[in-house]
Amino acid sequence: MTDTNTPALQLQGIVKTFPGVRALDGVDFDVRPGEVHALLGENGAGKSTLMKVLAGMYQPNEGRILIGGQPVQISNPIEAKAQGVVLIHQELSLVPEMSAAENIYLGELPRKGMGRVNWKELYARSNAILERLKCRFRAEVTVANLSIANQQMVEIARALTVDARVVVFDEPTASLTDAEKVVLFDIINDLKSQGVGIVYISHRMDEIFTLSDRITVLRDGQYRGTLTTAETDEDAVTRLMIGRSLDLSRNEAAPDFGKTMLEVRNLSCAPLFEDVSFTVREGEVVGFYGLVGAGRTEIAETLFGLRTPDSGQVFIDGQEVTIASAQDAIGLGISLVPENRKEQGLVLQMNCRDNMTLPQVHNLRAGPFLSNGAELAIFDKYRDKLEIKTPSWKQTAGVLSGGNQQKIVIGKWLSMQPRVLIVDEPTRGIDVGSKSEIHQLLRDLASQGYAVIVISSEMPEVLRVSDRIVAMYHGRVMREFEIDDVTEDSLVQAISGIKASEPA
Ligand SMILES: Nc1ncnc2c1ncn2[C@@H]1O[C@H](COP(=O)(O)OP(=O)(O)OP(=O)(O)O)[C@@H](O)[C@H]1O
Ligand SMILES: [Mg+2]
Repeated sequence: MTDTNTPALQLQGIVKTFPGVRALDGVDFDVRPGEVHALLGENGAGKSTLMKVLAGMYQPNEGRILIGGQPVQISNPIEAKAQGVVLIHQELSLVPEMSAAENIYLGELPRKGMGRVNWKELYARSNAILERLKCRFRAEVTVANLSIANQQMVEIARALTVDARVVVFDEPTASLTDAEKVVLFDIINDLKSQGVGIVYISHRMDEIFTLSDRITVLRDGQYRGTLTTAETDEDAVTRLMIGRSLDLSRNEAAPDFGKTMLEVRNLSCAPLFEDVSFTVREGEVVGFYGLVGAGRTEIAETLFGLRTPDSGQVFIDGQEVTIASAQDAIGLGISLVPENRKEQGLVLQMNCRDNMTLPQVHNLRAGPFLSNGAELAIFDKYRDKLEIKTPSWKQTAGVLSGGNQQKIVIGKWLSMQPRVLIVDEPTRGIDVGSKSEIHQLLRDLASQGYAVIVISSEMPEVLRVSDRIVAMYHGRVMREFEIDDVTEDSLVQAISGIKASEPA
């Protein structure tokens, strides 16, 4: 039996600075064998940075790391792995042109004589791990051809190749379906029962409370405390994290709405979605709720001109329109904040300001030059509105914390002043404090007359922001609810394909 009170690993007084940012300011953290230790904090609090120090990707300015009570030097990820410390990244770090197997064993491919790669062994071992993860693809497949969720599974598979002492999961569920989450939680419990220490980073309180034994909270790079999960609750954790409680109440029916801004009639794009009809009025937030894969993102993409429907009609402000490209959509006043910010929303190498003003470069031209003042004014406005944490507009977007990257994408589309704003999973990866600000922001936009569509897989989120909820199942609209009539049970039934048994 392992002694579960001696930490498997300790971080003491860790300080890490970047130009203009004190990301970690003397943080203590430890992981015991066989425990799940959740690490919590707002976007930019320093969670990922702390774990990158642990995994040898960053060298701390001060502080030390102890393994089994002994101070160690971890200079790079290979050394960390050799010490049994594995990090599963928040932002995927796979080589897209290579196979899943090559990614799983990157840097340590099994070899035979003359240093040649032993492909047979590589595929056999990789496929065994993928099977353990219940993946439905083979290790031979090229990573670029995998969905984001499956890429995440490859990332997780990587961690299972070593005899791990500590495994860090940095927001692993952000792009997983519920079924995949169940598999992941099984794996975590499995590792736990083998005495592996787990660090689990997530903004989802439900996951934190289901999985963790202890919770450590960071705030602005500082250690705020460690709580025993069984002895605390969400409200206490939230207060430690953001310094206040949150209003988690449901939205209340708004008094009245303006004219119909968007109307969709019998829109089909088989097999993704079929015969979809709905309306969104000025001042209204319509929530699209359903499981991952229900066709909601595809509808949004069709309305934004990224897919061509087989049939159906779209009306904007009473006029039938054809939306053949994103350009058309933008011209008609439709904005889409996409689900996957890294693929579709952000140019990671570009600075924050330019990312935000990218779609408007044409409008901001002053003669042959870009008007710097106008661009900066837009950036400043949405940085303040969304409380984006960055030392300057010049910061490369790729180094911002995950949630702050998402805020830049939202700011980009808000600054276009759309009439119809579609947001796809707007708060994925966003901390609870900023999340409620983004909810408020969506409500505010609606009350200013925008027509807003929110796609979300989180029930509390749709209940908090929507005036009306469209429940989807397998590409079809199952049911529509007014916010005052909806119950959690009826929503769950609708998105599981169960027809309403009685009139609502
Ligand atoms: N390589 C880097 N260069 C400059 N600044 C960085 C770098 N990495 C992180 N930072 C900054 O350090 C701070 C902490 O970032 P970190 O990514 O650790 O936050 P986080 O707690 O993981 O947030 P999130 O929940 O959004 O993922 C942020 O202000 C971030 O912009
Ligand atoms: Mg992070």
